[in-house]
Amino acid sequence: MTLSPSRSLIAAIALSATAFPALAQEVNVYSSRHYDTDDALYQEFTNRTGITVNRIEAKADELIARMQAEGDNSPADVLLTVDVGRASRAEEAGVLQAFSSDVIDARIPPHLRDPDNMWFGVSQRARIIFYAKDRVENPPRTYEELADPKWKDTICIRSGSNIYNLSLLAGLIDVHGEEAAREWAKGVLANMARPPQGGDTDQLRGIVSGECDIAVSNQYYYLRGFEGEVEGLTSGLDNLGFIWPNQGDRGAHVNLSTAAKAAHAPNSDEADKLLEFFTSDFAQAHFAGQNNEYPAVSGVPLDEDTARMGIFIPDTQTSTAVYGDNAAKAQAIFNEIGWN
Ligand SMILES: [Fe+2]
Repeated sequence: MTLSPSRSLIAAIALSATAFPALAQEVNVYSSRHYDTDDALYQEFTNRTGITVNRIEAKADELIARMQAEGDNSPADVLLTVDVGRASRAEEAGVLQAFSSDVIDARIPPHLRDPDNMWFGVSQRARIIFYAKDRVENPPRTYEELADPKWKDTICIRSGSNIYNLSLLAGLIDVHGEEAAREWAKGVLANMARPPQGGDTDQLRGIVSGECDIAVSNQYYYLRGFEGEVEGLTSGLDNLGFIWPNQGDRGAHVNLSTAAKAAHAPNSDEADKLLEFFTSDFAQAHFAGQNNEYPAVSGVPLDEDTARMGIFIPDTQTSTAVYGDNAAKAQAIFNEIGWN
């Protein structure tokens, strides 16, 4: 179906060595999103444009530091990160440049891109509420309800330094203001079944093991339990219920995987083409499907596993850009109240 990495590499070398050495086009992607299926995505772009894609994969903060160290000589053209909070860190670090395009403006709704055009979403993930069906009859239906004292000693949620929680609280700061957001965080902290520990999967495992009745996690961690055997999770999926939060008002908190143009982008035109390609139906289905996320472009079909959870109302009133804007305030609140 697709070229294996070694064959595509050989093809790329053959093209640059023999065909049009002076005209060989390429684009350099720094990515903190990496999946086995990435080769198919980039091969499709090469098939459509003739542009070869070179990739460097590492954690977002490492890539940002690398781009800073490389400075004007950075070969980076495009940066892919997970979570708007990290895209904002890249913006603050000065390693991005504004990039606007009619294609992107038409394809990506305004709340899923930066108002200053420094990044845009390529896929959406929802941070939602899970519960033990056999122990919780009326689970919380909103993020706000998680702070209700009736849930004392029941909730599992990870650390306050985690970017997913920082973005969640940053969104609540935008919706309710800083004071109310602080009270909410205090309420959730008081309701925790245990001190924050582990990643999102560990919160779901906490329900399976009986340690937690309620957990907060991104939706795709739950779906991974169906796709393959996830220790401590797959065996307990029957008893795991989920709630799309705030379906009666603003909708569920969504975060993004983001794409951005690097500040110095030596292959500027190629970068523009790749960024626009990321909003194509092909790339959208790919980005969403590889991690059981939702496409950023509406109308792109869900992949089979993601569709297992059905559709939901996302919060489209809160701009995802506030996650970066309010990140420092959110971290200050978590630190102050001791949600470590
Ligand atoms: Fe994740």
